[in-house]
Amino acid sequence: MSKVTVVGAGAVGATCANVMACREVASEVVLIDIKEGLSEGKMLDMYQCSTLMDFDTKMVGVTNDYKKTANSDVVVITSGIPRKPGMTREELIGTNANIMKGVIENAVKYSPRAIFIVVANPMDTLTYLALKASGLPKNRIIGMGGALDSARFKCYLAKATGANINNIDGMVIGGHGDTTMIPLLSKASVNGVPVTHFASKKRLEEAVANTMVGGATLTKLIGTSAWYAPGAAVSMMVESILHDQKKIVPCSCYLEGEYGQSDLCIGVPAVIGRKGIEKIIKLDLTKEEAAKFEASAAAVHKTNQVLHDIKAL
Ligand code: LAC
Repeated sequence: MSKVTVVGAGAVGATCANVMACREVASEVVLIDIKEGLSEGKMLDMYQCSTLMDFDTKMVGVTNDYKKTANSDVVVITSGIPRKPGMTREELIGTNANIMKGVIENAVKYSPRAIFIVVANPMDTLTYLALKASGLPKNRIIGMGGALDSARFKCYLAKATGANINNIDGMVIGGHGDTTMIPLLSKASVNGVPVTHFASKKRLEEAVANTMVGGATLTKLIGTSAWYAPGAAVSMMVESILHDQKKIVPCSCYLEGEYGQSDLCIGVPAVIGRKGIEKIIKLDLTKEEAAKFEASAAAVHKTNQVLHDIKAL
């Protein structure tokens, strides 16, 4: 028996619930939102897919009643406003920090042993806020960003190299921001063979640049923030937790000296299992990558400072 709650029935939250249900990641998925009827309707619609898609997941939609989320093993927090075309993720902080504080308090109250995955933006800063506001141990608060950015990186690398997408290995670390994320070209490969064997430096650098603005590109095309890959990225992380798969996932983790950084949540590769963040993996970065990581951490610290300015912390 396992239970997952998704807070926020917007496009990302609902897609995440849908992917988890279809894949039978958990025995029960609860979707909760403040808007009357939204979660109930979306979960009923998804439940009606059960016989069509051959899955058997208990699906519950609730309006604002955290009692129904009680004793969840994992809580996913997607609630908040999404960005519009031309906006950065950082610009959402004022509204979304306040939403996060209320959500984390209620969610922890009813699921004190859960692992929490933060999706709302600015993701690294809201992960840090969730950690500080809840007082939970650092292994139990994980930010989803690197998992999504790495999936996007792999798509662009597949295009650049012409290789099968499922043969591509690639990782994005650093902040989940258009200028702060760091796609690690030095570690990218096609089944272990460096990507430089398959594409020119120019093509590969284009793949890096496209990855960094991957979210903004979609926001411009769709008119709002993306949801299919974000939802699937969360589902993959929840599966690694509940099934104790111990996958190495780039995600936002609280650092205490790792990578030369402290007192922030930022994207690094970590082993994700039943205890949440079970181990942070130390990569050998090139000099240039290490400098980029330092600059990325400085930018995340600067956004975290806003939490103090607006008295959210
Ligand atoms: C994106 C949002 C989820 O990158 O941050 O699409």
